[in-house]
Amino acid sequence: MLRIDFPIATTRLTLRPFRPEDAEDVGDYQGRPDVARFMRWEPRGAEDVRVAVEQMTRETGLVSDGDCLSLAVVEPGTGKVVGQVELVLLSAEHRQGELGYVFHPAHQGKGFATEAASAVLRLGFEELGLHRVIGRCHADNTASAGLLERLGMRREARLIGTEFFKGAWRDDLVYAMLQREWQAPAARRDTAHAPEAGTGARA
Ligand SMILES: CC(C)(COP(=O)(O)OP(=O)(O)OC[C@H]1O[C@@H](n2cnc3c(N)ncnc32)[C@H](O)[C@@H]1OP(=O)(O)O)[C@@H](O)C(=O)NCCC(=O)NCCS
Repeated sequence: MLRIDFPIATTRLTLRPFRPEDAEDVGDYQGRPDVARFMRWEPRGAEDVRVAVEQMTRETGLVSDGDCLSLAVVEPGTGKVVGQVELVLLSAEHRQGELGYVFHPAHQGKGFATEAASAVLRLGFEELGLHRVIGRCHADNTASAGLLERLGMRREARLIGTEFFKGAWRDDLVYAMLQREWQAPAARRDTAHAPEAGTGARA
């Protein structure tokens, strides 16, 4: 496994592995119906949050197919966890990954998700050597689709009626980016690790 140097600093945020003591901050957003609406879980109570955070504390690297790297997104000024980002290794052989993210509504609308997700794409493409990263969302999740488009990902598909989800058949949007697209100047995003930080970024 490639060693990842934590914390990862972006212009306004810090990304680091989860700790058990993050449960209170995580509960502040994972407990909300508006946050859970398009997630596979229902709003989480304290015990479910404790279990979820405990699981995320163990998701610190990508070795085998299905492994998930979960990172807490911290606002340095307050030390609060304002959201989470993740990268799943779909296939080590084919260097495929999938991006995920959840933010507290109080910290949405500021470009934080764009900034943190850009850092995850940079990690995936530049450090882990992924060939392709996808993002999938419920077709009604316009905030998520908007984020994937801000990141410069390509909309590849709308899958119809993929599953019966929270009382209705759902459609899914599939977005993707290739390593070579990330490396193209127009696809660069704002991370503190990128020497050209901010220059090509809409974030
Ligand atoms: C999906 C989610 C992370 C998107 O969050 P977001 O706050 O909309 O995304 P960003 O942080 O990139 O912020 C973008 C917004 O901030 C604005 N903004 C302000 N300053 C900005 C900046 N410096 N850079 C970029 N955008 C900025 C943008 O204009 C945009 O506003 P708009 O939505 O009115 O167009 C969030 O809605 C969420 O957590 N949802 C619940 C969980 C969920 O559904 N997860 C996805 C499952 S697939």
